[in-house]
Amino acid sequence: MQSLEGKTALITGGSRGIGLATAKELAKEGVRLGLIGRSEEHLASAEKELKDIGATIVTAAADVADENAAHKAVKTVEQELGGIDILINNAGIAIRGTFAEIPADDWRRGFDVNVMGIVHVTQAALPGMIERNRGDIINISSMSGLKGTKGSSAYSATKFAVIGMSEGLMQEVRPHNIRVSVLTPSLVETDLTRGDAQRDPEKYTQAEDLAEFMVSQLKLEQRTFVKTAAIWATNPF
Ligand SMILES: NC(=O)c1ccc[n+]([C@@H]2O[C@H](COP(=O)([O-])OP(=O)(O)OC[C@H]3O[C@@H](n4cnc5c(N)ncnc54)[C@H](OP(=O)(O)O)[C@@H]3O)[C@@H](O)[C@H]2O)c1
Repeated sequence: MQSLEGKTALITGGSRGIGLATAKELAKEGVRLGLIGRSEEHLASAEKELKDIGATIVTAAADVADENAAHKAVKTVEQELGGIDILINNAGIAIRGTFAEIPADDWRRGFDVNVMGIVHVTQAALPGMIERNRGDIINISSMSGLKGTKGSSAYSATKFAVIGMSEGLMQEVRPHNIRVSVLTPSLVETDLTRGDAQRDPEKYTQAEDLAEFMVSQLKLEQRTFVKTAAIWATNPF
């Protein structure tokens, strides 16, 4: 296993949920963190939590759907922390409703955030990785990227797209020693999924579980990588 100490990670959607849990796990490994999120308030609160555990951290508020804002945020992180070794494209939104009900604008917004957000941030970070001939990109799709279900056609469509584009990117950048991985988690308990009923944390996958998985895959020797992984709860019934 390789050490992650001193590396720089950029996490989109790092202010809450899976992104924040991953930032915390990476901080324990001595990774310097750049976090992108929309809300300044959520970023400030994440920054405080991470600084309290000794992390080196830079935050940049940006909507990843906005190409210019996304590029600017990546540049800010690169200027403050140096080249990005690890990019975790995690920012995403849920789009709920039946196919017929979801307004076209919501379909478009879903694609703008969940798909184009990854395009914008990756296009900004990739040249540096190619130049250094090294890097890790983890894209967060979903179980909904493998299987459509009633009421999640729009979300599913965006997450299927994430898998397709990750596979293509992976093939393009392997010759540069850049590892592209796409994760398809099942239900993880976060603000995105927390419904009216509180789920039993012993039975549902927690953001920390996914974060630990990502840290362990990043620590694999550079010669090998996890191409895809589906992380499920063992027994949520
Ligand atoms: N939770 C699950 O069960 C589950 C399962 C499979 C896949 N996923 C995927 O995992 C990822 C993270 O989900 P989560 O459950 O951790 O969600 P979450 O708790 O709702 O957190 C979402 C994070 O993304 C940020 N974000 C949302 N839209 C953004 C935008 N347009 N620009 C920049 N940042 C944005 C949010 O920032 P603000 O605080 O500023 O809003 C927040 O930091 C998503 O891609 C989701 O689709 C989740």
